[in-house]
Amino acid sequence: MKNPSPLTNILIPLLLFLSLLSPSASGEARTSLSRGSSLSVEDVSDILVSPSKSFACGFYNVGSNAYAFSIWFSDSAIKTVAWTANRDRPVNGHGSKISFRKDGGMVLADTDGTVVWSTNTSSTQADQVQLLDTGNLVVKDPSGNILWQSFDSPTDTLLPTQPITKAIRVVSSAAPGSLSSGYYSLYFDSDNVLRLIYDGPEISSIYWPNPDYRVFQNGRTTYNSSRYAVLDEMGKFVSSDQLAFSASDMGSGILRRLTLDYDGNLRLYSLDESKGTWSVTWEALPQLCLIHGLCGRNGICTYVQSKVVCSCPPHYEMSDPNDWRKGCMPKFSVSCNTAQRFTHLALPQTDFWGYDLNYSTSISLEACWKICEEDCSCEGMHYVFGSALCYAKSILFNGRSSPSTPGIVYLRIPESISTSGSSALQMHQPNCNDTHSEATVSSSNMYASSSGKTRWAYFYGFISAFGAIEILFIVSGWWFTFRMEQKPTSLEEGCRLISSQFRQFTYEELKRATGKFRDEIGRGGAGVVYKGVLDDQRVVAVKKLGDAIQGELGAELSLIGRIYHKNLVRIWGFCSEAPHTLLVTEFVTNGSLDKHIFDEHDKANVLGWGERFKIAVGVAQGLAYLHHECLEWVIHCDVKPENILLDGEFEPKIADFGLAKLSKRGGDGSDISRIRGTRGYMAPEWTTNLPITAKVDVYSYGVVLLEMVKGCRVSNLMVDEEEVEGTLKSLVRMLKGKLKSGEESWVEEIVDSRLNGQFNCQQAEKMVEIVVSCLEEDRNKRPTMDSVVHKLLSYHDDPSSHKELAVNQ
Ligand SMILES: *[C@@H]1O[C@H](CO)[C@@H](O)[C@H](O)[C@H]1NC(C)=O
Ligand SMILES: *[C@@H]1O[C@H](CO)[C@@H](O)[C@H](O)[C@H]1NC(C)=O
Ligand SMILES: *[C@@H]1O[C@H](CO)[C@@H](O)[C@H](O)[C@H]1NC(C)=O
Ligand SMILES: *[C@@H]1O[C@H](CO)[C@@H](O)[C@H](O)[C@H]1NC(C)=O
Repeated sequence: MKNPSPLTNILIPLLLFLSLLSPSASGEARTSLSRGSSLSVEDVSDILVSPSKSFACGFYNVGSNAYAFSIWFSDSAIKTVAWTANRDRPVNGHGSKISFRKDGGMVLADTDGTVVWSTNTSSTQADQVQLLDTGNLVVKDPSGNILWQSFDSPTDTLLPTQPITKAIRVVSSAAPGSLSSGYYSLYFDSDNVLRLIYDGPEISSIYWPNPDYRVFQNGRTTYNSSRYAVLDEMGKFVSSDQLAFSASDMGSGILRRLTLDYDGNLRLYSLDESKGTWSVTWEALPQLCLIHGLCGRNGICTYVQSKVVCSCPPHYEMSDPNDWRKGCMPKFSVSCNTAQRFTHLALPQTDFWGYDLNYSTSISLEACWKICEEDCSCEGMHYVFGSALCYAKSILFNGRSSPSTPGIVYLRIPESISTSGSSALQMHQPNCNDTHSEATVSSSNMYASSSGKTRWAYFYGFISAFGAIEILFIVSGWWFTFRMEQKPTSLEEGCRLISSQFRQFTYEELKRATGKFRDEIGRGGAGVVYKGVLDDQRVVAVKKLGDAIQGELGAELSLIGRIYHKNLVRIWGFCSEAPHTLLVTEFVTNGSLDKHIFDEHDKANVLGWGERFKIAVGVAQGLAYLHHECLEWVIHCDVKPENILLDGEFEPKIADFGLAKLSKRGGDGSDISRIRGTRGYMAPEWTTNLPITAKVDVYSYGVVLLEMVKGCRVSNLMVDEEEVEGTLKSLVRMLKGKLKSGEESWVEEIVDSRLNGQFNCQQAEKMVEIVVSCLEEDRNKRPTMDSVVHKLLSYHDDPSSHKELAVNQ
């Protein structure tokens, strides 16, 4: 036995012999292995622990009598695995062994001695195997050099200080509770951008960062080829492609992991060591349905009561009732060489991403149908009214449906199977009283053109997305809710979570933080704001809310506290000790927008064009997030420059969102005008009896945008005794005329003269165009915030092809 050879016939006796030499398995867990020792699968206490005992490694049970060699967090209530050697090749529960062999190699051997995995460190100076406090398992030589480390081969999780590099691919697990490889990966693409991809058996497609945007629009760069990203111990992740984000509970001393979950979302988790539970402190995609491949081919992803649900369209059924990833198959057959006739089945507010056979703009719905009808490989098309876009689809994949999804999908189905349409008309009107609401989408003129010859089986015209989905369930008879036994929160739509630092403060604490409310920094509709410094040195703004808001606010506030977006003021917590109600938010250094654009005296310091455009984009993004991404679709109801704060880099942060909901709790009605926004920024429907929708914010945004372009308050433009609304109306009429005229010189007249012509003419024109559409009297004609973001971003200065600004001087 003095010269161990890898021949299997002597391996087993060797391993048996080595196991006899190893220290007693039932004793204190070991922190290192020396040459010749091993861990055996039979004894659950035979593990290696890190010095701080935060991590352990050993055999992890993955099924009946199946084991993997894994590293897990010791303090989580449910064993949470951070790394696995043999995720796709488990070993037998009897006789399997991890051995640090005499030759220096660490080897995982199955019952029969087959080497399933090895560190390839045999015939090196390897001296010791150690599990470090970072969760890194290392093989070291006598002088401490690392010869092999688990950090170089992550599975689905990256730990703090564990980098992802060129050579590394993080691959999700296949199902909740499973360790085996799934279809989602995080990797550095060949253009140096860190991406998430669905790499399934049928298709493969990138879904993060947003594939509809160019790299720079997503805030990334292709120029740094080092391809290196790492999460630090404070919870900040920085990547060479300029991606950067932080845990919402940023700070040291917290155990974290960045995991690519089986559902394809990349999430940063923090461990609450007292409870052993994980909370999400950042996630790549708050809207899960944007992840590709979730519902398989022909399947549609949607949200029902905070849950992600897959469904099949009518006349389709699940391919495998146990596995949504296999999608849906049609219950009809399509043949290309017979004279089969087709009809169209409408699925409103639905899209199937990608696989466009053909793409046409400015084309009628009938023409769009014709393209699809004439091409046998077309399975359906996506049509967007308004912009009249037509996408013919060769494959229906990545289906999703939500109130913010633009356009309608028309499925191509044989005429023979079509039946008469059901007409469940349902209208869901959101309003500021009730933030649990969807954006209203249907517009009556959308269907005006669909008369005469054209036929389609289902006329879902005026129903909201939810109505449509209910019908899908009834018609298709198949539906299924993803349920997560192990991680109950992880499949819910975003905008929740991110909560671990949200807390209740005592009045004493805030009194101390603000030096007895000495430093007043603002006074607004919602109350007086003071600057303060918390015990943990965080600089905060403390807002004393008026009497209108009282009672048990914890639940609702914590809901608002969970909303997290770079363009929304972060809410850290609240204090509710009668008679005091205070809100603690992040302190935003540069004050509110009004001070930067309306200041008559300080001409030298006037906000430049670049900043103005950036603010326009940021505010639109923040509002779009509130309107479309949060599950609790929130309407701000009081968008105005005073509520837009600017940080050190002039990145805007919207304040006071969600307060409309709280205000109504006051009940005495005396504050209605305040709750209902601010004069000059209020949409016309506030004075009529129309329900209040997210479009009131779009209107107010339009006013703010106009004020940023012009550099003065619209209400100061009052001509004679005319009302503000009247002035605004005539201004909009005038702008409309200018836009139509096609001349160019007018832009100069509109834009703030204090800029001395230093502005981007195209951007200014685009902004005026957006202003005009946002200020439409008919709210159905106003764009959504999402589409405003898209429009603005398409005029974003592209740093990679930077052109000189159109300077008119
Ligand atoms: C060891 O080497 C083999 C063959 O080169 C390779 O397949 C395996 O992935 C390596 N193992 C590790 C842990 O690097
Ligand atoms: C490229 O990225 C690396 C890692 O993030 C960073 O250290 C380096 O400074 C970057 N290089 C440039 C030119 O920005
Ligand atoms: C798209 O459809 C139009 C109209 O039918 C046709 O002229 C064009 O060639 C098609 N383009 C592609 C790429 O198939
Ligand atoms: C909002 O709430 C007030 C008072 O509860 C009520 O009078 C009003 O009708 C509500 N508005 C809408 C649009 O539901």
